[in-house]
Amino acid sequence: MNLKKYLDREFESGLRSLGALDAPAVVKQASKPAFGHYQANGVMGAAKKRKSNPRELAQLLLDLMEGSKELTGVAEYEIAGPGFINITLTPAFIQTELNKNAKDPRLGIPLETARKILIDYSSPNLAKEMHIGHLRSTAIGDANVRILEFLGHEVIRANHVGDWGAQFGSLLAYMDKLEQTGEALATELKDLEVFYQKASELFKTDEEFAARARQFVVLLQSGDAKCLDLWERFIKESIRHCQAIYDLLDISLTPDDVRAESAYNDVLASTIEKLEAKGLVEISDGAKCVFMDEFTGKDDKPLPAIVQKSDGGYPYMATDLAAAEYRGHNLRVDEALYFVDGRQSLHLSQLYAIASAAGFIQENQVFSHIPFGTILNKEGKPFKTRDGGAVKLADVAEEAIERALKLVSDKNPELTKDERNHIAKVIGIGALKYAELSKNRTTDYIFDWDTMLSFEGNTAPYLQYAYTRIMSIFRRAGLNSADLTAPFNLTEPAEIALATRLLQYPEAVESVVEDYQANVLCNYLFDLSQHFMTFYESCPVLKAEGDTRNSRLRLCDLSGKTLKHGLGLLGIQTVEQM
Ligand code: ARG
Repeated sequence: MNLKKYLDREFESGLRSLGALDAPAVVKQASKPAFGHYQANGVMGAAKKRKSNPRELAQLLLDLMEGSKELTGVAEYEIAGPGFINITLTPAFIQTELNKNAKDPRLGIPLETARKILIDYSSPNLAKEMHIGHLRSTAIGDANVRILEFLGHEVIRANHVGDWGAQFGSLLAYMDKLEQTGEALATELKDLEVFYQKASELFKTDEEFAARARQFVVLLQSGDAKCLDLWERFIKESIRHCQAIYDLLDISLTPDDVRAESAYNDVLASTIEKLEAKGLVEISDGAKCVFMDEFTGKDDKPLPAIVQKSDGGYPYMATDLAAAEYRGHNLRVDEALYFVDGRQSLHLSQLYAIASAAGFIQENQVFSHIPFGTILNKEGKPFKTRDGGAVKLADVAEEAIERALKLVSDKNPELTKDERNHIAKVIGIGALKYAELSKNRTTDYIFDWDTMLSFEGNTAPYLQYAYTRIMSIFRRAGLNSADLTAPFNLTEPAEIALATRLLQYPEAVESVVEDYQANVLCNYLFDLSQHFMTFYESCPVLKAEGDTRNSRLRLCDLSGKTLKHGLGLLGIQTVEQM
């Protein structure tokens, strides 16, 4: 059960009885005096609306709720400050709820009413190798996919890769040149990065080649069979590269989730016709444009969205409109969430507005942009290679694993080579993804190897290490957690604090998808680990006896399970030892 929502309901019914439910109760977790303390702030809002004194209203409310306090599981209500109500739960309530959660394979997280939710994420352009900028959409999108699926929704992963357009001209011309000269195309394609470089170098330096490249753009668009064949081979190879990165990063995307831009080619003309039929299209500088009142540029001039270029070509917007119709009309999604860089926010707002005006999206369908900031280097500048190029995602992932291997080898040299390699992969990739997930997604963030791989602070290695410590307790005791069946028995403050934290797991998971902020879950897991450490330092576990020992072991067990489960929802693995 979601503890916050539970208390919210209690307060809401109290406020309703007082006829004061014109503001929601909003129960918040209080950071002080300690966890297990919730705070109802909504009383202040309700008082403000009725123009009454908040402390007086709070007192009225408490008079009303006092009688049912025990039944609710509340030890104490206390009015604080300008009119907050601090709530302390009874150990008996915490114990009962914890017993329920511990038995539940879902750790107390209920299924939500299923909705059909499409998540557009990762979506790289295939004319380039994936770079570090793709990490955000890929890692954050994937964590949200996993959480929504776990909550019971029907999730459609949509990898809207860019596989069409002028940028393919030089690549196809280069493929053609290799074939003509009898050089092995297949070998060259193995290193796509070099392939891109050679093609673009030729485009810049060789006039004849550049002309050929432009010709290939036309050939591609006109559906020339030979050109399409080359293009298909290229795209296949490029998707294979992306998939290798997804596998390495443990991203749940598969080739089946790719629905590329080119998949919409056949419907682009009719998509634009539908816009025209609705009277949405105007010609401006020879191009077909849609102007919407809400989009204005400098001097309040209306901003156009180009849907067909003057040369007849279809831009990014046209494909996105066709995709929006497919998602809204054909797939009939309840929601489509676009996990895309914040710099595309104008494009996406225009897209949703036009698609709604055209009837591609219905009013009850939610299409929204989930934006994020940019990855910066330590100097606060965009993250680039030394010569100013894009940093390849594959290189970053490999470096993460290499650096983790050094750490693991120093920490635990007696492990076998295979064990070390496995642990290094789990730690390195975990650290890389967690660095993304643990920040507020909307702000820019600084990429720093040392912080992300540190075993201290809010990092994946810290959480993974906390998990291994719990595992080692059971190893040392030669115990299997399944054998612990007696109920919890909480007495020490550190036990109660940890137990309350454990009870808050459903709340943490559900809060993520309120605004697709994975950092809420990261912060929760970090806080949980810290509470675990405090408990472990102040309450002997294996040296304790009888019921106390059993109860403490169960706290360890549930802490471990929650950590592993929470990291799993974030797409991060754990190991038994490191
Ligand atoms: N391929 C685009 C890029 O790399 C991102 C696509 C995002 N999704 C969309 N439906 N526009 O910038």
